[in-house]
Amino acid sequence: ATMPVISAEKDDVDVIADFLKEATTYRPSILVVCGSGLGSLSKCLENTITIHYNDIPRFPKSTVVGHAGELVFGEIGGVQVVCMRGRFHTYEGHDIRKTTLPIRVMSLLGVKFLIVTNAAGALNETYNVGDVMIMADHLNMPGLAGKHPLVGPNDDRFGERFTPLSDAYDVKLQNLAWRMAKQHNMTDKVRRNGVYCFVSGPTYETPTECRLLRLVGGDSVGMSTVPEVIVARHCGMKTIGLSLITNKVVMPGTQRTAIPASHQEVLDAALATQTQLENYVKDLMVAIGTG
Ligand code: ADE
Repeated sequence: ATMPVISAEKDDVDVIADFLKEATTYRPSILVVCGSGLGSLSKCLENTITIHYNDIPRFPKSTVVGHAGELVFGEIGGVQVVCMRGRFHTYEGHDIRKTTLPIRVMSLLGVKFLIVTNAAGALNETYNVGDVMIMADHLNMPGLAGKHPLVGPNDDRFGERFTPLSDAYDVKLQNLAWRMAKQHNMTDKVRRNGVYCFVSGPTYETPTECRLLRLVGGDSVGMSTVPEVIVARHCGMKTIGLSLITNKVVMPGTQRTAIPASHQEVLDAALATQTQLENYVKDLMVAIGTG
C-alpha cells in the first residue's frame, strides 16, 4: 500500500479555496477579473454574495485606487460567475506568483473560463479612447526577462512544466466576442486581433519604449493580465482578454502636443464606457457559460 502523503502545512491556495468553499455554495464556471475602473462589471450578477479580500485568510491585499478588493459571487442567466473586483500587480510589490494566486484558487473551485479585463494605453494609432480590444496575443516583456509566474518548482496538480502559449487566447471565444460586438452595434469600437504588451509599471512608458512595443506589433500596453492568463492556461482554463483603451500613448516627436498618461484619465475613460461595456460583458458571460 502507498503511504499517505502528509504535508507539513497546507498551501495558501488550498487554505483560501477551502475557506471559500465554506463561505459560499457557489461553484462558478467563469471568473471575471475586473480591470481598473471596471469593477462595475459585477453589477449584472444576481443573488450575489460579496467577500472582501481582507476577510479571506492568506489572500493578498490590494492597494490601488479604483480597485475595490472584493470577490463577488453570483449568477446570470443560469450561469454561476465570480468577479474579482480588484487584482494584484507586481508594481504593488507583490511577488509575481502572488498576483496570480487567485487564478489557482478559482481553478480549485471549478472555474473553467477566464474573462480577463484591463485598462490599457493604445499603441495602435487607429485606436480611440473607449475602444474595447479583443486580445489575440500578448508580449510579455518582464516574462522574457525571467519575471514570470511559473518560474520555480512546477506544481503538477495544476499543469505541466512547459505550457504552450500559441493558443493562449481561445479563438472560439474571440469569435464569440466579435459576434457579440455585432449584436450590440459595437463594431465601431470593438477591435479584433489585438496584441497586448505587458510591462511592469508603475511608471507609464517613455515615448521610445512605446515605439519599441509598437514596432514589434503591440496594439495596447498595460501593467496586468498576462501573468493571470499564463497561470490560467497552465491549469487548462479557456481564456478571453478584453482591453479597454483608456488613453493614447505618447510616441517620439509628439511629446509637446500630447497629454501624458495619468491614472485619473484611465479611471475617467473607464467610467465613460461603463454601461455599454457592462451589457456587453454580461451577454458574453451568459454565452460562454451556456455555450
Ligand atoms: N494602463 C492604462 N494606460 C496605460 C498605459 N499607457 N501604459 C501602461 N498601462 C496603462
